[in-house]
Amino acid sequence: MMHLDFDTPIDRCGTQSYKWDGTLAEFGRKDVIPMWVADMDFPCAPEILDAFSDRVRHGIMGYTIRSQQYMDAVRGWFRNRHSWDVSEEALTFAPPGVIFAVNVLIDLLSEPGDRIVMQTPNYDALMNSVSAGGRIISENPLKVVNNRYELDFDGLEQILALPRTKILLMSNPNNPTGRLWTPEELSRLGDLCAQHHVTIISDDIHADIVMPGYHYTPLPSLSPELAQRSVLLTSTNKTFNLGGLQMATLVIYDEVLRSRFNQVMARYQTRLDNLFGAIALETAYTSCGYWLDAVISYINENRKALEAFIRTELPQLTAYPMESTYFSWIDFSGLGKGEGLERFLIDTCGVAFTPGREFSAGYGQFMRVNLACRRELLLTAFRQIRQNI
Ligand SMILES: Cc1ncc(COP(=O)(O)O)c(C=O)c1O
Repeated sequence: MMHLDFDTPIDRCGTQSYKWDGTLAEFGRKDVIPMWVADMDFPCAPEILDAFSDRVRHGIMGYTIRSQQYMDAVRGWFRNRHSWDVSEEALTFAPPGVIFAVNVLIDLLSEPGDRIVMQTPNYDALMNSVSAGGRIISENPLKVVNNRYELDFDGLEQILALPRTKILLMSNPNNPTGRLWTPEELSRLGDLCAQHHVTIISDDIHADIVMPGYHYTPLPSLSPELAQRSVLLTSTNKTFNLGGLQMATLVIYDEVLRSRFNQVMARYQTRLDNLFGAIALETAYTSCGYWLDAVISYINENRKALEAFIRTELPQLTAYPMESTYFSWIDFSGLGKGEGLERFLIDTCGVAFTPGREFSAGYGQFMRVNLACRRELLLTAFRQIRQNI
């Protein structure tokens, strides 16, 4: 098998990288170690880069349709990686990305003033999609039981019963905590939504990145009823580090909803594909599972290195168990910095994480730390914190 090197630094400065070139605008400092926005500092799989090069040599970048091989690649990925047989008819796509598609779905499934249930903490762009669309977020806060985030089913039952509740919008795994919902949790949640005629939108964009010992279950795979009541969104974006290509795959079994979704995509002329996205998707899903395995293993070693460092050098921090994603969700309250925590980390320590407050009020002492970087850089960041406390 090809040796993959994730340790040699690749300079991303000056490449229009949001993560590296965007820190001045985002944090007020250019020279911080950026461990915030969700992309990886690792080069793409060589097969994908080769496929891009072949296409560049061909020289023509016209409008792009999806081939039968493309559909087979998506279905093959679901089948081989997640033991899930998805029918070809249920597949649809949204080249502008997952958040674009979520906004279209919110518009199709609800009216301004309706309620949308969300477990919190949750990804800020999902929450913004709800509020910017004039819908009301009904928060169903996760609870911590034995150092693990759990769904609060009693709270969920109460808010699902509120008038004008139309949608439950979730992330599986939950971003930022990394919790992967179990089949039991998903079935119970699905039954409650069915009782209250609520549609589930499950954003599974991080679901391919699963740590050893954990397992991902796609919610619609659990029963035909759940498949009809839900929409699942995924992408090659996080899995294969292709965020700049803006692709999204949707599984919509409800024929009426799928057709309404496709009509909107046709109206905006977004039904065709992003050429490089299409090339990458087909190559990734058919030939790059080994690359993903190597990335997961490297990130898992980063996780272990960080946890060991925290244990011995920074016991004031609490890192929650990382089941999935490449984020560590860390409680920094033990440093005693209070409201000054963010500026302390940026100005004094020179490290930029995603602040927990972005995922819900009440998480001002938490940080979401992106571990998809060189191990040496990760440890340098935490050494800088250690030296400055
Ligand atoms: C849960 C979740 N959904 C969606 C996205 C973004 O998806 P896209 O770029 O396809 O809109 C992210 C990116 O961080 C994410 O974490």
